[in-house]
Amino acid sequence: MRIWLLVFCIVQVSGEDFPSLITANASIAVVLDREFLGEQYQAILDELKDYIKELARVELKHGGVVVHYYSWTSISLMKGFLAVFSVASCEDTWSLFSRTEKEELLLFALTEVDCPRLPTDSAITVTNVVPGEELPQILLDMRTEMAFKWKSAVILHDDTLSRDIVSRVVQSLIMQIDKGASTSPVSVVVYKMKHEINEYLRRKEIRRVLSKLPVKHIGENFMAIVTTEVMTTMSEIARDLVMTNTHAQWLYIISETDAQNGNLSSLINALYEGENVAFIYNVTDNGPECKNGLMCYCQEMMNAFISALDAAVQDEFDVAAQVSDEEWEVIRPNKVQRRSMLLKHMQQHIATKSSCGNCSTWRALAADTWGATYRSYGDADLVAKDTTNGTMTGAIEHVDLLQVGYWRPIDALRLDDVLFPHVEHGFRGKDLPIITYHNPPWTILQVNESGSVVSYTGLIFDIVNQLAKNKNFTVKVILPSHVKHLVANDTSADMSHSQDAMLTLSAVAKGQVAIAAVAFTVLSDPPPGINYTVAVSTQTYCFMIARPRELSRALLFLLPFTTDTWLCLGLGVILMGPTLYIIHRLSPYYEAMEITRQGGLSTIHNCLWYVYGALLQQGGMYLPRADSGRLVVGTWWLVVLVVVTTYSGNLVAFLTFPKQEIPVTTIEELLKNQQIYTWSIQKGSYLELELKNSDEPKYTALLKGAELSNTGGTMESNLSSWKKQLIRIREQRHVIFDWKLRLSYLMRNEHKLTDRCDFSLSVDEFIDEQLAMVLPAGSPYLPVINKEINRMQKAGLISKWLYAYLPKRDRCWKTSSISQEVNNHTVNLSDMQGSFFVLFLGFFSASFVLFLEWFCNRRKRRSEEVIIKPYVE
Ligand SMILES: *[C@@H]1O[C@H](CO)[C@@H](O)[C@H](O)[C@H]1NC(C)=O
Ligand SMILES: *[C@@H]1O[C@H](CO)[C@@H](O)[C@H](O)[C@H]1NC(C)=O
Ligand SMILES: *[C@@H]1O[C@H](CO)[C@@H](O)[C@H](O)[C@H]1NC(C)=O
Ligand SMILES: *[C@@H]1O[C@H](CO)[C@@H](O)[C@H](O)[C@H]1NC(C)=O
Ligand SMILES: *[C@@H]1O[C@H](CO)[C@@H](O)[C@H](O)[C@H]1NC(C)=O
Ligand SMILES: *[C@@H]1O[C@H](CO)[C@@H](O)[C@H](O)[C@H]1NC(C)=O
Ligand SMILES: *[C@@H]1O[C@H](CO)[C@@H](O)[C@H](O)[C@H]1NC(C)=O
Ligand SMILES: *[C@@H]1O[C@H](CO)[C@@H](O)[C@H](O)[C@H]1NC(C)=O
Ligand SMILES: *[C@@H]1O[C@H](CO)[C@@H](O)[C@H](O)[C@H]1NC(C)=O
Ligand SMILES: *[C@@H]1O[C@H](CO)[C@@H](O)[C@H](O)[C@H]1NC(C)=O
Repeated sequence: MRIWLLVFCIVQVSGEDFPSLITANASIAVVLDREFLGEQYQAILDELKDYIKELARVELKHGGVVVHYYSWTSISLMKGFLAVFSVASCEDTWSLFSRTEKEELLLFALTEVDCPRLPTDSAITVTNVVPGEELPQILLDMRTEMAFKWKSAVILHDDTLSRDIVSRVVQSLIMQIDKGASTSPVSVVVYKMKHEINEYLRRKEIRRVLSKLPVKHIGENFMAIVTTEVMTTMSEIARDLVMTNTHAQWLYIISETDAQNGNLSSLINALYEGENVAFIYNVTDNGPECKNGLMCYCQEMMNAFISALDAAVQDEFDVAAQVSDEEWEVIRPNKVQRRSMLLKHMQQHIATKSSCGNCSTWRALAADTWGATYRSYGDADLVAKDTTNGTMTGAIEHVDLLQVGYWRPIDALRLDDVLFPHVEHGFRGKDLPIITYHNPPWTILQVNESGSVVSYTGLIFDIVNQLAKNKNFTVKVILPSHVKHLVANDTSADMSHSQDAMLTLSAVAKGQVAIAAVAFTVLSDPPPGINYTVAVSTQTYCFMIARPRELSRALLFLLPFTTDTWLCLGLGVILMGPTLYIIHRLSPYYEAMEITRQGGLSTIHNCLWYVYGALLQQGGMYLPRADSGRLVVGTWWLVVLVVVTTYSGNLVAFLTFPKQEIPVTTIEELLKNQQIYTWSIQKGSYLELELKNSDEPKYTALLKGAELSNTGGTMESNLSSWKKQLIRIREQRHVIFDWKLRLSYLMRNEHKLTDRCDFSLSVDEFIDEQLAMVLPAGSPYLPVINKEINRMQKAGLISKWLYAYLPKRDRCWKTSSISQEVNNHTVNLSDMQGSFFVLFLGFFSASFVLFLEWFCNRRKRRSEEVIIKPYVE
């Protein structure tokens, strides 16, 4: 049963929905819930009435205010109120709020502790906190203000915290707040420790608890409600157990400090790179002048309201005086505008003037750790840094603690900045020193005429720039020449042949830079002092070989038939002559018809020439007259027809489609042609290393047959030896092995220079070489950077960027080597030279035979003379 009392003041109210403050006095509803206030009700009501009357008289310079008092929250809001002030329980306040929200009224509420505050953009909430028990309310406020966006939390506390407070803390974290999904409940795990005075025992106890935390399952958001000593010890041990990494968030809540010994900065002894640490600590000042209590809050809020109202009325008068009545009706603020104006004014008034409960104040500190070592880090510092062991192993020298806000009962948590700056803002725009050198296409440094670098591009810089954007840092490029004087005598890190690479590695190992923007080969046995990121690119090896050439056309006329065909044909001619002769000779036809076999086919020699002549379609002068002989000749003509037709057809084909060498496209084929080809591998390259370690017979054979060349470094730095290699490939059947990427560049360059396609790449791609950026060993940012690189890789950004740097495909990329000439090839001298050779051959053999005939003839004549001589004498 609810007992209630109604106080009514009836004053003239304009009929309009929301009258202008000029034409009508403002009216507000004051709701004091009788049930909530209990016995105090009457006293508070009387005191408040007097206070408001006095306040309006003194403070309100324009117009007046009409106050309606209610003693229960379910009031009707149709009376044209400007605002509602309520003192009620949490539940009633929220239900009242849902109705004022519908009417777009301003609500300022005083309510009990452990109540989620109303949205700050349409209401003001003050919780009446008993000093010393504000902890749960603070956590609740942090949740509603979204100071942390945690899904789970690990609460660590020792037994100085009472059970009641612990359960209220947990309740405030898991409570459902009906303010939308953004403040979803946090799942909480609570760990309790024994409070030990003795330093050694305390250490042991903390280590016991921390080392057992199943971090994988409960998350890495820690909330430690501890004293300062425990905090120092705990942060040390957590660091020891690698629990303060870049993903983990540590919130220390320290209640035992106060205004006098509240300089927490001096108590935090060390912070390390990559930690996310925030502190909320008690700066309560329990002085005698501290004001507190329900009445105090009520008065302060009414004060703020009256001040806001006065300002609003003044404002409307000022504006209305400058415009006509009609215009005023158009431009005067509507309900929502007036509400937000009042709200802003009240909030400002409270923030600046409030003294009620402002003794119970807590401060929030955030540690600015990420990249702090590199802050204002000039070239001169590199020299200084050289004497230390690097940055990743020691504490940050100048810890920067950000005052991010404070908490008071009356205005909740006021944050000027975020509590975990690095979770939200990454590196917060710090300069990170990044070392690099020219190594296209990974890093391309463009130099202007006077020799200073004007732009940094290349795949790695695309990645670094994206990283900088995502993680909010700026890139400060350092060139190896800057650190040269420091490490000139350091030869320990000899991985790549280039001196720049060496200097870079050494600078990274010394922690002089945050990241090396380079593409280094990921070795299974890395140089000391560095860590690789995940691979940004994978390069495969292949080899470059001269493009298969057209075979010589000198013997083109022989090509249509294979050797055995030619042999058979020759044999056929040689055998056909005697066959014809024998059949011609044996035929009884001539005896029967009494014809003499004259001339023509009467000798075996003539028959041979006849058959040969028939082959060349020249026909003979004589035909045998007997059918038997004619049949032999007839079938021979048939054979000739087939042979000659086939030959001419094939010859045309060979003229049109030039015959090429058999291409060598795989390692197996190369090894098979070991006698013809030589090949070279870069000395000290990853390929050599991998081949050495490989058991596969083909790789062992490959390495055994290879020359180790000294073509190290980039193409530009070693141009002459590259050129030499290219000449060897072109002219001496040489093959070089390298990255497919590098060889494609080479090919493209040569194509541009000569406009010819002299080279081709193997089909085989083998041995993957992983390329990655380099960070100092133990850098806390390795997981952060790896995660970003993985994201870029998944989004396809890296392959897109790399594609832009790859040589464009040109006509040399075509694997088929049929040249353009195919379509309209006109027969030229090189095609015909074979026939001329034959002609010469014929001429020479004719001369030779002539000489023989002449010689024979002479001998014959001489022998005849010798025989005749005796008769003469
Ligand atoms: C507003 O209130 C003041 C005093 O509180 C009174 O004198 C004045 O008549 C009222 N004005 C209107 C329009 O009600
Ligand atoms: C904050 O400090 C004050 C003064 O030292 C103390 O009275 C109060 O209990 C502290 N608050 C909490 C929650 O411990
Ligand atoms: C806190 O202590 C640090 C050093 O210990 C000092 O520099 C700083 O001024 C102090 N802050 C306050 C508010 O006393
Ligand atoms: C409390 O308020 C007074 C005046 O409003 C101000 O001077 C004082 O600094 C405040 N105290 C705290 C702890 O904020
Ligand atoms: C550097 O490291 C060595 C051993 O690694 C250690 O003895 C030395 O104290 C360190 N120096 C500094 C300045 O950290
Ligand atoms: C980068 O850091 C600055 C400084 O803290 C901050 O103002 C800014 O919002 C941050 N930017 C991003 C995109 O996080
Ligand atoms: C080269 O760049 C540097 C630095 O940006 C600049 O000072 C210099 O004038 C430039 N030189 C020329 C020839 O453009
Ligand atoms: C390198 O070492 C040699 C002798 O070992 C020394 O003379 C020279 O000065 C050193 N150079 C630098 C740059 O330290
Ligand atoms: C980083 O390098 C150190 C030493 O070289 C090695 O012990 C450690 O495992 C590396 N870390 C990662 C994540 O590879
Ligand atoms: C092929 O013939 C066309 C037109 O007859 C001519 O323009 C072109 O140059 C010829 N191509 C070659 C390779 O001779």
